[in-house]
Amino acid sequence: MNPKTLQTSNQSSQTTQTLDAVLWSAQENTLPPEVMAYLAGADVELDQALFLYDIQGTLAHLKGLAAIELISAADLSQFEAALAQLQQAFIKQEFVLDSRFEDGHSAIEFCLTEQLGELGKKAHTGRSRNDQVLTCLRLFMKDQMGGLKGEVVAVIDTLLNLAKDHTDTLMPGYTHLQRAMPTTVAVWLLGFAEGLLDDLQQLNALGELLDASPLGTAAGFGVPLPLARELTAAAMGLSRVQVNPVAAQNSRGKYELMVLHQLSYLMSDVRRFSWDLSLFMTQEFNFIGLKNTHTTGSSIMPNKNNPDVVEIMRASQAVVDGAAAQVHALLSLPSGYQRDLQLSKEPLIKGLKATRDTFVLLPGLLEALVFNTDIMQAAITPAMMATDQALAQVQQGQSFRDAYLASKDGQTPITPEQSIQARVSLGGAANLGLEILEERLEGLTQ
Ligand code: ARG
Repeated sequence: MNPKTLQTSNQSSQTTQTLDAVLWSAQENTLPPEVMAYLAGADVELDQALFLYDIQGTLAHLKGLAAIELISAADLSQFEAALAQLQQAFIKQEFVLDSRFEDGHSAIEFCLTEQLGELGKKAHTGRSRNDQVLTCLRLFMKDQMGGLKGEVVAVIDTLLNLAKDHTDTLMPGYTHLQRAMPTTVAVWLLGFAEGLLDDLQQLNALGELLDASPLGTAAGFGVPLPLARELTAAAMGLSRVQVNPVAAQNSRGKYELMVLHQLSYLMSDVRRFSWDLSLFMTQEFNFIGLKNTHTTGSSIMPNKNNPDVVEIMRASQAVVDGAAAQVHALLSLPSGYQRDLQLSKEPLIKGLKATRDTFVLLPGLLEALVFNTDIMQAAITPAMMATDQALAQVQQGQSFRDAYLASKDGQTPITPEQSIQARVSLGGAANLGLEILEERLEGLTQ
């Protein structure tokens, strides 16, 4: 196709017919522009995120058609060249997906027909936009989750390394936001690392679920053609076929919801961490500072250094949860394709963006933390060693309850350092189990 021709025909968006409607509508298009626009919604914008995956799915579909000899090997070569060209034109922004098209799917068909003439019209043989959209969303989600996994691993790595530098950095531990016992920065940081390892395990399970091809289920009933479904799945790098066509259609939105729920778990760890940070960064605590790469000033108060990044991270969970709520609400549907499902695209893309943007920034944020070790240590009061005192007496033969009562006054010769050194059971400050966490990370990233 000639991308230039396509761009200059931009004015046609003003007419009552989009290019794709002209292409595939059997009857004259009678839809008024406001109805067309209402139906298309934000599709052409959102489909920009999906376009390359749609090209990939189209290529696999055509390989399948060649395998069952509905197109010849020479036809396939022509399609391959045209799709490669469209892909390049899209990447270089010479081809722009805009309101001339109803959506990315019909844009691909339009471009193939413009480029290849009669042959282009064969591209949609045995395919519906329903399995086309399912397929490109599947590839998109799989890729996004793969990228996110790498970003989560980078955050876990950073937490593990930071923890190694702070195995002896004392800090007060809180329950009910009341001083409880001494702990270390390493214990605090590893808490988040292990939480993210749980998320990583779930991400792997979700990755396996997403690794299935809906291509070939067409409108939700299969087609009277011997489509090579395993072949097309393999051509897209998917390890299995989503067998039943109704199951495939019904997974639209459901898989998106699973992704968004997974993002919510990840972001809930981030939210808790952000909360701790914003508390520890108050002048009242002053345990942790942030280098000026990650703080902002106030437009009125010259004295301010605000942790806005931490706050946007905390708030991003709301974006993800809002997106999940939207998808969940619109899934109140009978089985099969319904146009309602189109509205699951925006929240999916938005939730993924909010999460990935956050995880990309987290390693840098962690490296910008400054631990005010003296202030943290000074906040550990003698009363916080009362439990140590009671347990020391238990080791000398006293019952725990008597020792507990005797230690209530908080008078103890035990120092915070001694308290920390005695936390020898697995996971405690003197026995962090770092190697166990590292091994688990290795196992989850193989
Ligand atoms: N934009 C549509 C969506 O996201 C594409 C599928 C259209 N299918 C149809 N039968 N109208 O759902």
